[in-house]
Amino acid sequence: MTVQSPITVRAANVRDLASIWEIEEASYASPWPKETFVVDITLNADARYFVAVVGKRVVGFIGGWFKDRRLHIVNVATHPAYRGRGVARQLVSFLLDLAVDLKMESAFLEVRKSNATAQHLYEQLGFATTGLKPMYYPDDMEDGLVMSRELGNAPTGN
Ligand SMILES: CC(C)(COP(=O)(O)OP(=O)(O)OC[C@H]1O[C@@H](n2cnc3c(N)ncnc32)[C@H](O)[C@@H]1OP(=O)(O)O)[C@@H](O)C(=O)NCCC(=O)NCCS
Repeated sequence: MTVQSPITVRAANVRDLASIWEIEEASYASPWPKETFVVDITLNADARYFVAVVGKRVVGFIGGWFKDRRLHIVNVATHPAYRGRGVARQLVSFLLDLAVDLKMESAFLEVRKSNATAQHLYEQLGFATTGLKPMYYPDDMEDGLVMSRELGNAPTGN
């Protein structure tokens, strides 16, 4: 299957855990423990995970928590071999569309101050920096930026 094949997005399930973990490990110096994904995908009622698929291969994933009318994007990563082809943009857009459908009012996420690639992606999708979490990342004490956007579902006051 070539990288020109269309990218599709579908809900993640336990059979995707190995692929998700492989992408996680290839993407972060301090990857999340595998158990975090297991709990989020199988037990956490607030969490929804999706994978991007090219052919039959999982090439990216995204996870979000839907709570208190806010979408918290907790993780998004693309397999290194598939970066720069719109995979993450499609995943984030998919989650934002779902959040609008689920009547979420806003979306937010944390991103490393040094992660200009991800910040560009989020800015393109309407996010702006709205906060700073000093030393948010415990492995190296890097600051986290909070990026947020409204989703057009603000309460009407009725
Ligand atoms: C950040 C990440 C998810 C982007 O995934 P991707 O599938 O390559 O991104 P896309 O191809 O959808 O690119 C969308 C936008 O991201 C930005 N972007 C992507 N690659 C970039 C790069 N190398 N440099 C600068 N901006 C970049 C651009 O704004 C791009 O839009 P454009 O192509 O119109 O310029 C990927 O680099 C990754 O997995 N990184 C490691 C994990 C990570 O940092 N996750 C984010 C945590 S907050």
